[in-house]
Amino acid sequence: MDKFYLTTAIDYVNGAPHIGHAYEKILTDIIARHFSQRTEVFFLTGTDEHGIKIQKTSKEQGMTPKELCDMNAEKFKQAWKALDVDYTKFIRTTDDYHEKVVQKIFKKLVEKGDIYKHSYEGLYCSGCECFLNEKDLTEDGLCPDHLKKPELVKEENYFFKLTKYKDAIIKHIKENPDFIVPSFRANEVLNQLEDIQDISVSRAKTNVQWGIDVLDDPDQVIYVWIDALSNYITAIGYDTENPSDLYKKLWPADVHVIGKDILKFHSIYWPAFLLALDLPLPKHIFAHGWITIDESKMSKSLGNVISPTAVLENFEMEYPDAFRYYMATSAPCGKDGNYSDADFKEKVNAHLANSMGNLLNRTLSMLVKYFDGEIKPEFKEQSDLFKKALGTVKVVENHFNHFEIAEAAQEIIGLVDMTNKYVTDNAPWTLAKEEKWTECGIVLTTVLEIMCIVSSLIYPYCPNIAKEMAKQLSFNLDTKLDDLTCDNIKVGKLISKEEIKPVFLRIDSEFADKTAKSSKK
Ligand code: ME8
Ligand code: MG
Repeated sequence: MDKFYLTTAIDYVNGAPHIGHAYEKILTDIIARHFSQRTEVFFLTGTDEHGIKIQKTSKEQGMTPKELCDMNAEKFKQAWKALDVDYTKFIRTTDDYHEKVVQKIFKKLVEKGDIYKHSYEGLYCSGCECFLNEKDLTEDGLCPDHLKKPELVKEENYFFKLTKYKDAIIKHIKENPDFIVPSFRANEVLNQLEDIQDISVSRAKTNVQWGIDVLDDPDQVIYVWIDALSNYITAIGYDTENPSDLYKKLWPADVHVIGKDILKFHSIYWPAFLLALDLPLPKHIFAHGWITIDESKMSKSLGNVISPTAVLENFEMEYPDAFRYYMATSAPCGKDGNYSDADFKEKVNAHLANSMGNLLNRTLSMLVKYFDGEIKPEFKEQSDLFKKALGTVKVVENHFNHFEIAEAAQEIIGLVDMTNKYVTDNAPWTLAKEEKWTECGIVLTTVLEIMCIVSSLIYPYCPNIAKEMAKQLSFNLDTKLDDLTCDNIKVGKLISKEEIKPVFLRIDSEFADKTAKSSKK
């Protein structure tokens, strides 16, 4: 593996970011940080800024569409900064280079005969930004996702010959069982492929103005999905004539991380566009589940939309680590997760403060108390735990190869739990009382070696906590996963009393009460 190129969905900017957007960006950032411990990573995210939804919202708010986009794109960037989502590039679909290449892509598909003009009547949902089939609607004729009545649209539009690529896509999905992750979603997609039709890829300017113009046809704008999906290649310098070196290096993407609601666009439309352009398909499409709040769907009408930074503010947290950890572990791969204040507090206190943080803190404190913070040569001894720890590294890597982020975290905490048990079983405080100094020193040093591995493994989830752990262990966190050993703790003075500090403070109930109150307001 000489590079890893991953992307998120690009978010609609008709509103501010919410916790569901944050979930996806955190998951992707964790995958990016993990693979950065193995290879060179390029992490793309951004915003999806065209379409009827943004046109309508900007009108309601008395702004131009571009003003609304500028205002909200900034909010997304601020949120990702606060959550330590460390992307390589942020694309906005209103960026000039993107618009130009999308026009060229469209033109190329017209020239190839894959895009044709067609009079059409259909039901359009602006929430989905797509046409819906009658049979997909609820009994009352509403969009099942947005519970809104789609609008009857009669237009002459450009159409893309999706049906031409149907067989090739079915074949690709069947021959590549890990193309769609998790694999239980592949059947859904194969079913949807059964009755696909050609799709509209433009809208008449009389109805939609906020979009990229079709070259040579000023009456039509490119409808959002060709525009939006192309971001994955335009951002890295794709061009129909002269693609950049970066594009040649990065494409095909290793994974597109997206929500389950837009899987169809990514596993049917996008592969079809790429096949039509003679480009290779991405290696994996990872569809994550949805986040609910206190077990109910997040929605403006329910008034339970949580901003991604509200949790940090409510709990007065300096770092986003605990929130990142909680989000990342809220659901098994591809399944839906839930956020609740009480559960958040309980989980991060248990895992990050009690199990992991305390273990390091207690061990370092004993090292200072019994040995003045010094590692003696005779403390360095092999342990069965080392085999276990290096085995955990492999298991974690394997989970990440399958985008099993929560499952990987469970392994890491499992290693921490095992190490806690090792401390209890070997009772270094008793060894000290009995003046069995070498045995006591070996136990403490063994734990510290394991904590170096733990800091490396927990880094993608909790980068700030990991850095603080590594600092107190004098461990180099830049060590690649393949180069990890259990020989990181150097003989000599490791730490003094003043240098020891808790890496994660328990969230106390006072803060939890405060959130409960503020959310009732
Ligand atoms: O779909 N839980 O944008 P979007 C988890 N612009 N994920 C959620 C979520 C929730 N409650 N709500 C939304 C779009 N998401 C298009 C994408 S990509 C070329 C174009 C996820 O702002 C959703 O599944 O509606 C999607 O992956 C992302 O947030 C952006 O959603
Ligand atoms: Mg959406």
